[in-house]
Amino acid sequence: MAVVPASLSGQDVGSFAYLTIKDRIPQILTKVIDTLHRHKSEFFEKHGEEGVEAEKKAISLLSKLRNELQTDKPIIPLVEKFVDTDIWNQYLEYQQSLLNESDGKSRWFYSPWLFVECYMYRRIHEAIIQSPPIDYFDVFKESKEQNFYESQESVIALCTHLQQLIKTIEDLNENQLKDEFFKLLQISLWGNKCDLSLSGGENSSQKTDVLNSLEDLKPFILLNDMEHLWSLLSNCKKTREKASVTRVYIVLDNSGFELVTDLILANFLLSSELATEVHFYGKTIPWFVSDTTIHDFNWLIEQVKHGNHKWMSKCGADWEEYVEMGKWVYHDHIFWTLPHEYCAMPQVAPDLYAELQKAHLILFKGDLNYRKLTGDRKWEFSVPFHQALNGFHPAPLCTIRTLKAEIQVGLKPGQGEQLMASEPCWWTSGKYGIFQYDGPL
Ligand code: F6P
Ligand code: MG
Repeated sequence: MAVVPASLSGQDVGSFAYLTIKDRIPQILTKVIDTLHRHKSEFFEKHGEEGVEAEKKAISLLSKLRNELQTDKPIIPLVEKFVDTDIWNQYLEYQQSLLNESDGKSRWFYSPWLFVECYMYRRIHEAIIQSPPIDYFDVFKESKEQNFYESQESVIALCTHLQQLIKTIEDLNENQLKDEFFKLLQISLWGNKCDLSLSGGENSSQKTDVLNSLEDLKPFILLNDMEHLWSLLSNCKKTREKASVTRVYIVLDNSGFELVTDLILANFLLSSELATEVHFYGKTIPWFVSDTTIHDFNWLIEQVKHGNHKWMSKCGADWEEYVEMGKWVYHDHIFWTLPHEYCAMPQVAPDLYAELQKAHLILFKGDLNYRKLTGDRKWEFSVPFHQALNGFHPAPLCTIRTLKAEIQVGLKPGQGEQLMASEPCWWTSGKYGIFQYDGPL
């Protein structure tokens, strides 16, 4: 097996991982507890006293979790039976087997950051499913919806832009079409700034006009492989036989504004015939505050359809039709909410790996996907992306991510060090973005 560097972890005092485990994750837990409190009367109205008791139970389980975290208690196995419980507990055992500390117990600050952060969201889910009849409740739903509502103006601007573009799309020459493709890719990239886990669930909506900001944001794209995406898809279009397909897969990240940018891009892919099918992968459980579930996906399309603007509702109606016609296919798989790095997919979720192999191109949205693609490890900045993927090559892939964790590979020699010297928070602030491609050139 190839030698890989150590995982990022909270052991490194002062690192972003450390600060996340020490401050950001407990804040998120506190917000979740508040949210449950605020819904008490709703639970009462829906389920009577049983609902109130369930809310109390969920809150006490979550308070216990917060205490375990803040006092760096050992990570304990999951108890509630769910589809993925055994896989999680096996993974915990595996983590413990890697430790050489005397008690052999995984702890919050001493285990890989990726593992403990995923575990925290999985434990939130456990607290909820252990508390029927409120076991359906998505503790992050409210903030995801708010993010969408607060981004209304930008959503309207994007939908209008897309509809105008579609009207004349057949008259565009190759270069014009490529320019439009690049624009929508960049919008999808900057849409990833709006994730709610970085802000603890606040102030992450899109209020500025992202379309008009693209030129100003260009200098912040550290790696730009958009040309490869264009060559790949325009080539598929040219060489495609009648009735054959070009499949683009989008491994989704956040709901709300970011999801709108992804759907706009997906719409363009169909309208421009750069793809004939778009497949989306979402999360089966509420995840990292703002990640998209099937409920969020359907809810958002519905909202756009009933939007108070002609072009917005046209987009929503088209999107619904794409889903009905099977041109857009939504999938979920428990693997996306497991703690494993993606190079483990062929062993842990061979069915999913086999599905991904059918893609002509896979777009991985967001920071967490990048962490999982690269194993959340302390790679040198200049290590090639292909190497950091550590054998994960199901199909040509591209990551579209704003940087929010201390990990970045594939930079020019010296580039990372230079950024570090001038701007120590360059890789955690979400200010920079990348399009990083791996596949045939
Ligand atoms: O909390 C840490 C983190 O994983 C960061 O890496 C990032 O800020 C966020 O959560 C998730 O970001 P994204 O929604 O872009 O995957
Ligand atoms: Mg996210």
